[in-house]
Amino acid sequence: MTKQKTAKQSEVVMTEMVLPNDTNTLNNLMGGKLMHWMDIVAAIAAQKHSNRIVVTASADSISFKHPIALGNVVTLKAQVTRSFNSSMEVFIEVWAEDIPANKKTQTHRAFFTFVAVDQNGRPIEVPELVPETEQEKELYEGALRRRQLRLILGKRMDPKDAVELRAIFEPDFGKEGNGE
Ligand SMILES: CC(C)(COP(=O)(O)OP(=O)(O)OC[C@H]1O[C@@H](n2cnc3c(N)ncnc32)[C@H](O)[C@@H]1OP(=O)(O)O)[C@@H](O)C(=O)NCCC(=O)NCCS
Repeated sequence: MTKQKTAKQSEVVMTEMVLPNDTNTLNNLMGGKLMHWMDIVAAIAAQKHSNRIVVTASADSISFKHPIALGNVVTLKAQVTRSFNSSMEVFIEVWAEDIPANKKTQTHRAFFTFVAVDQNGRPIEVPELVPETEQEKELYEGALRRRQLRLILGKRMDPKDAVELRAIFEPDFGKEGNGE
């Protein structure tokens, strides 16, 4: 297995068009349809990083900033932000484009987590991710705190072990004399 891969190596860009079957009664793209596309583009990014079968473990921080209208062209970009043991966090950005009006808007962002599994569905180790750009480094740093938060909410981690997350709320946490 390749031991390290850059974030850029996992980049995937997918383009779709909003058709009548994809819309709600306001003629805007259904949230569920968009999440389906997000799941696909993010799964491909996680596959590119791990060269494994991957399963969706969680989808969080999905923000629906603007509706996407019928006929718009939707661009989804996904890239792995950080890998852990068998899991990978993927950052997804979405833009909607009204091509005749020459207008493109960023509409959504989200973080999904995928787990690489073997043929029997058992989690398997993935390569380490190396961030290169400033944005990749920022996403890499934040990934550890976001992982801690989702594992706490999923009752998979004791909040007192989330050192990096706690440091946001308790600036003195971890400093000499304040440890537990
Ligand atoms: C995801 C799955 C493989 C985890 O299996 P598990 O037996 O809980 O395995 P583990 O406890 O060893 O955890 C494996 C990894 O998953 C991560 N994980 C598990 N649940 C998670 C969650 N809700 N959010 C984020 N990460 C999660 C763990 O942190 C661990 O990561 P690490 O190896 O990088 O440290 C398993 O729950 C599964 O197959 N779920 C169904 C996935 C699926 O079918 N998705 C499609 C949508 S329906």
